Amino acid sequence: MKIFLDTANVQKIKEAAAMGLCDGITTNPTIILKEGRDHKEVINEISALISGPISVEGIGETADEMAKDAVEFSKWGKNIVAKVPMTKEGLKAVRALEAKGIPTNVTLVFSPAQALLAAKAGASYISPFVGRLDDISQDGMALIAEILAILKNYGFKSQVIVASVRSPMHVVEAAKAGAHIATVPPDVFDKLFSHPLTDKGIKMFIEDYKKANAAAGAKK
Ligand code: G3P
Repeated sequence: MKIFLDTANVQKIKEAAAMGLCDGITTNPTIILKEGRDHKEVINEISALISGPISVEGIGETADEMAKDAVEFSKWGKNIVAKVPMTKEGLKAVRALEAKGIPTNVTLVFSPAQALLAAKAGASYISPFVGRLDDISQDGMALIAEILAILKNYGFKSQVIVASVRSPMHVVEAAKAGAHIATVPPDVFDKLFSHPLTDKGIKMFIEDYKKANAAAGAKK
């Protein structure tokens, strides 16, 4: 499974990239607002750091507006993906942009029917929001399994990006379901590394290393 970071925080992206753990980036206006930076400036900087796809979302409401935004975004760096909402206008934009060679990511997907339509329209990526479904007492990960089954039935090329990830278990469940990608916010990414037994084991080995040297020194 590919791991994308769901952030525009350049430090976090650098850190993950240094471990080979940043296969791509997803952003949205809320994520960019958190950094307090200009859209173009931050996307430009991210594009210089990673070679994977970078999803950028505009505010166009009609297909023409979305396509115009996407053409502009695609000038901001390499591998820019146009994020468009799951609406009729959004899917018209998907068709036009994919035909032009600009990959699209259909966002705000909450049902298998929406994912089927996005796949048929030719989206490169489909982003179901698992956390927001869990928030309203629906099973976000069950949606992922349904979408993956539909895509497999018909050999659709669209890749599923498990989005609105809120916990390490979302990432693990995404991998178990065979999702192509999980896009992970920095706080959840950091939690993926931790296990109390790892910390305990490191502490014990350091102490025993020192004890072993001290014991050997005492024998001399
Ligand atoms: O990738 C979409 C994601 O950023 C939405 O996450 O936590 O706002 O539901 P959240």
